[in-house]
Amino acid sequence: MNKDTRKVFLKTFGCQMNFLDSEVVAGVLAGDGFELVDSPGKADVILFNGCSVRRHAEERVWGGLGAVKKLKAKNGKIKIGVLGCIAETHRDEILRRFPHVDLVVGPRRVKDIGIFLAEVINKGNRLLALGEDNTFLKDESFALRRSKTDAFVRIMVGCNNFCSYCIVPYLRGREKSRPSVDILREISALVAKGYQEVMLLGQNVNSYGKGLEENTDFAGLLEKAVKVSRLKRIRFMTPHPKDISSKLIKVIANEEKIVKHIHLPLQSGSDRILRLMKRGYSSGSYLRLVDRLRQAIPGVRFSTDIIVGFPQETREDFEKTHNLVKKIGFDNAFIFKYSARPPAASAKMKDDVPLSEKEERNQILLALYRRKGVKK
Ligand code: 5AD
Ligand code: SF4
Repeated sequence: MNKDTRKVFLKTFGCQMNFLDSEVVAGVLAGDGFELVDSPGKADVILFNGCSVRRHAEERVWGGLGAVKKLKAKNGKIKIGVLGCIAETHRDEILRRFPHVDLVVGPRRVKDIGIFLAEVINKGNRLLALGEDNTFLKDESFALRRSKTDAFVRIMVGCNNFCSYCIVPYLRGREKSRPSVDILREISALVAKGYQEVMLLGQNVNSYGKGLEENTDFAGLLEKAVKVSRLKRIRFMTPHPKDISSKLIKVIANEEKIVKHIHLPLQSGSDRILRLMKRGYSSGSYLRLVDRLRQAIPGVRFSTDIIVGFPQETREDFEKTHNLVKKIGFDNAFIFKYSARPPAASAKMKDDVPLSEKEERNQILLALYRRKGVKK
């Protein structure tokens, strides 16, 4: 490697989609001749790809930016960028608050990181790239993936659900599906490189296919994906409990390659809170869905996400969640304390559950899973 090669440090926080975005960024930069390094101290370019889904998630990026400030003070040539959902949320405020940041790139623009970085490096500008870019890369198999055996594969972007607590539709835009030929070609390319397992990613995989010219749905996509020879396992993330079709249940049950583990975010066990969250299902219909899945798919395992301390959540509402979680017996659960995320709709409601109470509810649910090592 040429000693003039620019070195990049890329740190990622957030969901699988964000990690896949970073893998694409790493692939683009490697293609442009950058070398990836494992510490900011060795880097000419420092990039944070960060999440905005909860306030706590953001703090890691703010902390990271604080920590690299002195590197830039020592060497003014270092370029620092903030990418991903956190960039889209805080926009130009990041440039104002952190004078050492050169580059702010939203999650829908990161695939053009090479162009943005060249501009920042060559012209010395500070640059903001946000908002819409609704095109898919035809092929993401050039991404520099964290694993040589299992790969994330994007099947759609965006979200149309607008759950009242969630900022994601404002950051990743409207739902759009990727053509199945491109997905299948990419899976085949990954298998040819030695990958055995894929995780199909979308904010709401059940609505895969809507708006595409081809007549397909998520179950249909799975049926095609299982036919890719030498592919061993298929996982997917995330299905919404409100619209899992009978056809999808059948395909999961019948196809050996599909891993019998379903991440099915419950969020709350109280119907009143579920309505306020605009989740589109009740505790009863969620439970019936779990029963149907268990009957159709012997040995199926479930994991879930729960939010505690949503506005107006009483102790009684929480007890309903606690009881439902115990009754269902999830294999694993991720518990989150509510934080207001404007412009998400619930940010207009009073965040009225005291932090100490959120913490207590959090601990009560965590205790059910402690031995399994649930992340906070
Ligand atoms: N506050 C707390 N948790 C949230 N989540 C999404 N938005 C919020 C919020 N405003 C949680 C949900 C989601 C997971 C990825 O993060 O449980 O499923
Ligand atoms: Fe992923 Fe949502 Fe965080 Fe964006 S805000 S990184 S979509 S979890």
